[in-house]
Amino acid sequence: MLETLLRNCTLPDGRTGQDIAIADGRIVAVQPALPAQAQHEIDAAGQLVSPPFVDAHFHMDSTLSYGLPRVNQSGTLLEGIALWGELKPLLTQEALVERALAYCDWAVARGLLAIRTHVDVCDPRLLAVEALLHVKQQVRPYLDLQLVAFPQDGVLRKAGAWEPLKRALDLGVDVVGGIPHFERTMAEGAESVRLLCELAAERGLRVDMHCDETDDPMSRHIETLAFQAQRLGLQGRVAGSHLTSMHSMDNYYVSKLIPLIREAGVAAIANPLINITLQGRHDTYPKRRGMTRVPELLAAGVPVAFGHDCVMDPWYALGSADMLEVAHMGLHVAQMTSQAAMRQCYAAVTSTPAAVLGLEGYGLEPGCRADLVLLQARDPVEAIRLRATRLMVMRAGKVLARTAPMVVDLSLPARPQQTSFQR
Ligand code: FE2
Repeated sequence: MLETLLRNCTLPDGRTGQDIAIADGRIVAVQPALPAQAQHEIDAAGQLVSPPFVDAHFHMDSTLSYGLPRVNQSGTLLEGIALWGELKPLLTQEALVERALAYCDWAVARGLLAIRTHVDVCDPRLLAVEALLHVKQQVRPYLDLQLVAFPQDGVLRKAGAWEPLKRALDLGVDVVGGIPHFERTMAEGAESVRLLCELAAERGLRVDMHCDETDDPMSRHIETLAFQAQRLGLQGRVAGSHLTSMHSMDNYYVSKLIPLIREAGVAAIANPLINITLQGRHDTYPKRRGMTRVPELLAAGVPVAFGHDCVMDPWYALGSADMLEVAHMGLHVAQMTSQAAMRQCYAAVTSTPAAVLGLEGYGLEPGCRADLVLLQARDPVEAIRLRATRLMVMRAGKVLARTAPMVVDLSLPARPQQTSFQR
C-alpha cells in the first residue's frame, strides 16, 4: 500500500485534478483519479501543490541580528558592511547557531526547504563557517543548506584573505564566492574574479559571486565572470548575484553583455527586496530601482532566480523567510505583470533556483523526492498575490508543518460570513 496519496491537486504548470502518490519518500505517480489506496489520504481540494520554495541567495550568518550592536542609520550597503564588521568580533558560535536554527524553523513553516547561504570567510577563526557547517548537518533531514565561501571584505583588498577562504572550502563549504566590486580597483576586481574562478575550476566547485552590487554603470565584473566561466569550462555552474549595475548600464553595452552571459551559461540571481532597498541611495530624483534587468535576461535565455538575501540583519530590518514576498517584490520592481511573466516570478523562487543550486530529485515528476507544499491558492499567480498560507509542508513524504487556512469571519448585512480573498 502507498504511504500517502494527495487527491485533487492543481500543479504549478496548470494541470488540475491531479493525484500524487508517494512511497518510500518519493513521488511514484502523478495522474488524475489514481486507482490506489494509501495509509494517509490528503484532499488538496483543488488547491496548488508545488515543489518547495528555494532561496538562491541568503546570509544566514547575519540573520536575526537586527539591532546588534546598533541599527543601520543610513540604510546603505556600505554602512551595513561597516556594521557587520562591528558585530563580527562580538559573535559567538552558540548565538550564530541559535539564530540560524530559528531562521530554518521559519523557512520550513514557509515551505522553503533549500537555501544557498553565503558565509563570511574573512574571520580567520572561521566562527561563522563552523557554526553554519554544524547547522547544515543538523537541518539536513528537513532542509538543504548550501554554503558559499564569501569573502565579505574582498580577497585582494584584505591581506591574508585567501588562507581562511581556502580553509573554509577544505572544511566542506560548497561554493566559491567573491565580491569584485568591493576590491580596491576595477583591475583588482577583475583579477579576483579570475583567481576565484580558477580556484573553483581546480576544485570542481560551483561559483556564486556578489557581482556589481552598485549603481555604478561602469562596474562590469559580470563581463569578466562570464568570460572566466567560459574560458574555464564552468558553464552551468556559475551564478552572478545582484548584478545591480546592469540597471544603470548603457543600453548598447547591455545588448552585447546579455548574449555573452547566455553564451557563458551563467545564471543571474536578483534580490528584489534588498536591491530596491539599498540601491539608488545616492540618487535624489528620479531614483533608480537598482534591480538587474530580469525580463531582458530571461528573454535571452539566462536563468534568473530570486533570493531573499537578508532577514532582520544589518542590511534589512524585515522579512520572515517568505519567498512569495520576494517573488511579489520582484514582479513589481521588474514590472513583470503578464500572466507568463508572473509565472516566471514563481519559477524564480522554485524551479529556477533549484537548478542553479543543482538540487537533485527536485520537482513533481515520478522519481522526485516527495518534497511538497500545499498552498491556499488556486495557482502560482494567486499564491504570489496572497503570499498564500502554506497549509502543509512535506519533506520526503513526511509532514513537517501545517498552518490553518487564512479565513476572516465577517459580520456584514446580506453578505457571506467569511472571506479568504480567493476568487
Ligand atoms: Fe548578498
